[in-house]
Amino acid sequence: MKEEPEQTTRRNFIGWGLITSLAAFLGMLFYPIVRFIIPPTVAESSQNSVVAAKVNELQPNSAKIFPFANKPAILIRLASGEYRALTAVCTHLQCTVQYRSDFNAIWCACHNAKFDVNGAVISGPPPAPLDTFEVNMSGDDIIVSKRA
Ligand code: FES
Repeated sequence: MKEEPEQTTRRNFIGWGLITSLAAFLGMLFYPIVRFIIPPTVAESSQNSVVAAKVNELQPNSAKIFPFANKPAILIRLASGEYRALTAVCTHLQCTVQYRSDFNAIWCACHNAKFDVNGAVISGPPPAPLDTFEVNMSGDDIIVSKRA
């Protein structure tokens, strides 16, 4: 039996539709898997310094979290008026730490770890101290910079 040209066209159209749908489905299925296995290269931020706060923005014995090089950092104004700046990423499981003015230390709520204001581990599971940054004043700005 010879096929009519119209049936061939309809059959071809349905065939191409099925192939296209299958290709789209497989793409949806495997794209996230491939992106997981081969993650895109994310350029390391070249940010070496940032304006973390304005002078007198922080009261003595308080702190603020600010973004620095795509990660949270913490600026602490000690009771003496001195400033400290550290990474706010806990060295245990990367939770964001916070300053606790009630015991003058940096605290990680995830596993109750404590760091002193210089980043050293006081207690808890963190395997390493917090990285520290330089703090300088420039006019009305408090500049936090990576150490050279
Ligand atoms: S993540 Fe900070 S102590 Fe576990």
